[in-house]
Amino acid sequence: MRPAAPASFEIAVLPDADSLALAAADEFARSAADAVSRRGLFHVALSGGSTPRALYRRLTKPPHRGAIPWDSVRFFFGDERCVPPGDDRSNYRMAREALFKPLRIAPRRVFRVRGEDDPARAAREYERLLRAHVPGRPPRLDLVLLGLGEDGHTASLFPGTPALTEGKRLAVENPGPRPGEPRITLTYRAIDSARRVIFLVSGSTKAKIAAAVLAKRGRRPDLPAARVAPRRGTLLWLLDEEAGSRL
Ligand code: 6PG
Repeated sequence: MRPAAPASFEIAVLPDADSLALAAADEFARSAADAVSRRGLFHVALSGGSTPRALYRRLTKPPHRGAIPWDSVRFFFGDERCVPPGDDRSNYRMAREALFKPLRIAPRRVFRVRGEDDPARAAREYERLLRAHVPGRPPRLDLVLLGLGEDGHTASLFPGTPALTEGKRLAVENPGPRPGEPRITLTYRAIDSARRVIFLVSGSTKAKIAAAVLAKRGRRPDLPAARVAPRRGTLLWLLDEEAGSRL
């Protein structure tokens, strides 16, 4: 199944992880400035995992710290592990430590997934938050940040899992890589409604899967990341040289 083509598709390979984080911070600031100037608010879904930590830390330092209207930013998440917010595995916790605390982001501007709750209820509640706070039908996030797993997953859209075929919901419970550790994830419907989607991919361990997703674009529907295609939005892949070494 070839994904519908995004409005624009771009790949940029940066020399190293630091320049990847800097490029991503510049992109974040540009998206934020555009959204706030046009609509007064910037709705962004953060990615989990380890790669985006460098981006979040970069955003807390000059020049980006002072260049972004943080009071007009509303933070969401691409996915969450079904764990309490203080758990080391929590994507919310990582963002809180790397971004929200250093920037003193008011809790009312952060819309987290309640990983501590029953997964089905947490998914329904998160979907309610998206519909209540993000304009558009379906809600249209201004920016969705995503990572790439070595199996081709993104957010918590893992190969062969039920969330891949969810066509109506915006957020669902989905099995994670470890038995008994479910996840809550945005669906393609939520991701592909975004104005801009940016993948951040770093390190030599991602070179093979990045090539499989990008070099054979459209011909690897078995790889969840390959199917992300914001229909009325733009898609940017940012990789460092190690991750992009086989493109
Ligand atoms: C998560 C992320 C997941 C992540 C990839 C890449 O909750 O872990 O949503 O999709 O982006 O697994 O993770 P790394 O950045 O740690 O390689």
